[in-house]
Amino acid sequence: MTEMISAKERITQLRLEIERHNHLYYIEAKPELSDFDFDRLLQQLIALERQFPELLTPDSPSQRVGGAITKAFSPVQHRDPMLSLSNTYSTLEVEEFYNRVKKLLLLEGVDEQEMVAELKFDGVAISLLYRDGLLVRGATRGDGRQGDDITANLRTIPTIPLRLNTLAESCEREVEVRGEVFMRKGDFELLNESRPEEDRFANPRNATAGSLKLQDSAEVARRKMCFVAYYLKGLQDESTAHLRRLELLSQLGFFTGDHYRLCQALPQINDYIARWSEERWQLPYETDGVVLKLNDVHFREKLGATAKSPRWAIAYKYPAQQAGTVLHNVIFQVGRLGTITPVAELEPVLLAGSTVSRSTLHNFDEIERLGLMLHDRVIIEKSGEVIPKVVRTISEERPPDAEPILPPSHCPSCGTPLVRPENEVSYSCPNEEECPAQIKGRVLHFASRNAMDIQTLGDSLVEQLVAKDLVKGPADLYFLEEQQLVNLERMGPKSAHNILQALDKSRAKSYEQLLYALGIRHVGRATARELSQACPSIDTLQQATEEQLATVPDIGPVVARSIIDYFSRGSWPDTLEKLRSAGLPLSASEPKKQVNSNFEGLTVLFTGGLERYDRQKAAELVMERGGRVVGSVSKKTSMVVAGSDAGSKLQKALKLGVRVATEEEFEAML
Ligand code: IVH
Repeated sequence: MTEMISAKERITQLRLEIERHNHLYYIEAKPELSDFDFDRLLQQLIALERQFPELLTPDSPSQRVGGAITKAFSPVQHRDPMLSLSNTYSTLEVEEFYNRVKKLLLLEGVDEQEMVAELKFDGVAISLLYRDGLLVRGATRGDGRQGDDITANLRTIPTIPLRLNTLAESCEREVEVRGEVFMRKGDFELLNESRPEEDRFANPRNATAGSLKLQDSAEVARRKMCFVAYYLKGLQDESTAHLRRLELLSQLGFFTGDHYRLCQALPQINDYIARWSEERWQLPYETDGVVLKLNDVHFREKLGATAKSPRWAIAYKYPAQQAGTVLHNVIFQVGRLGTITPVAELEPVLLAGSTVSRSTLHNFDEIERLGLMLHDRVIIEKSGEVIPKVVRTISEERPPDAEPILPPSHCPSCGTPLVRPENEVSYSCPNEEECPAQIKGRVLHFASRNAMDIQTLGDSLVEQLVAKDLVKGPADLYFLEEQQLVNLERMGPKSAHNILQALDKSRAKSYEQLLYALGIRHVGRATARELSQACPSIDTLQQATEEQLATVPDIGPVVARSIIDYFSRGSWPDTLEKLRSAGLPLSASEPKKQVNSNFEGLTVLFTGGLERYDRQKAAELVMERGGRVVGSVSKKTSMVVAGSDAGSKLQKALKLGVRVATEEEFEAML
């Protein structure tokens, strides 16, 4: 009993602590804990709740980690339609709106007009329903009348209270809160880094919309989204002003955006718009305008709404920032999947705080759509944080030396004639095995931070390795020898040694990371995680059928097809063989077998032919016993197992004084 009381106290303490850190991270943007330490608190809570299930409550932050899989979202009818706002880009129209409202109020005999100005968050509108203080349902806006029930996904968002802080006396039993789910810029960038290039989100709003519709709520929990509330319904006193409602929302535990302001007259509204047109760039999230709302709720009702939007509110949207410049050239880049992307080389120009000299043109259709010619004067635009894009050409100012931009016919890297697969907008280089640009792209992806994280493998090094034919795919990296590296440009023995060490270290990465690193089309980190759970070894994965793969959460037919295609490539068996003999993680880590640990902590190198073992088997035996297998000799190598015809590696081992064992001695150790 006393044990349970102290568990209860600890659970309460942990919950408060966790929600406090959520607040610091998501609302104050001043985290005090690392992700690792935060996770530790959460794991402690989960462990205690498992031990004392009677103490688990639906509002515990442990309920935010997700896990529920939704196959199809059920429809939800909104009690009051979720209207949208009429938009304008002109401050003149804001003035007209203001005067229109003024006139309507005067007709009612009211000559006071308070407006609340709020920032317009660039996210996805949702509705939350609380019953007796507990979150019972969350839904998308849908068409305004009917949305989707996405409660399981919304529960994972740390700034959506699972229980209202204090059910203010002024609240009815049922309360509806509406607002915007959004992703902060930093969290958006991290998410995009974890996705394959071909599947990156264009902006935080798209990332949010995509994430809210995921079937696997555990993945939603990892996406780090936020919620800002701007609507509260269910007050006993229906006449409570909007400003007061925002304060109440904050007391109930919601983030309300901090920056709203009460405006008594038009000049204050204009000031607010002007101030945030600059300051919004400093905010950790994207905003695309300002929303103006009549503060008095009673009069709102009198003004009513059109079919789509209320007459008492308007959204002023900031125009995207633009600049004029000159298109000097268009180059065609080859991605790791062979896709050809045209890139505009521009006269450098300052735009929204940074100098722009390049911009992607996406595909050749885009060049035609814009009617672009070389040397044209063009307008580029930056909206939000998105990378700048060319929006139009000033054809009236076309210079006499303007030249047409011809579609590429051959791959700029390997010269192979390009193809344009049916239904695709991009040209593509079909030479997937040999094209140097594709190989380089694959190797760089393999070495990237979220994949095998081999930081010493930079762009120019990989370029040289591919050009000199030392590497034809990521697996070849593990068979590089120190001398081959030393012979490269800008490479001393020390850097060569560091590279081999970094490669060696990367063997300790997980099977899941390796699956992501392979660079299978459409397989990002999240998909790699799902795959590693559904198929815990590469052998089961490569045998899975398209139908089996399509049953894994969030893997649709396109991704399933792409996985099948990857493993059907002619070069795959050879790649697999190399990955295996390099000792890379080809299955989810299992509990270590009970074998002797004579090799614990040793780095072992095999050279020459072994009689009783093939290389791969020998490597596995060492690894099962806690050792590592390396491809080149250094002073740090613990032992070299020398078979028949051992050559330069044996010589080097002897020279460095590394222990050398025969096959028999190796067997004895086993
Ligand atoms: S009020 C009836 N306030 O903008 C008015 N909306 O174009 C309901 N939005 O659907 C919306 N920030 O998704 C309101 N501070 C804010 C907002 C906001 C972003 C979004 C919301 C809405 C859309 C309207």
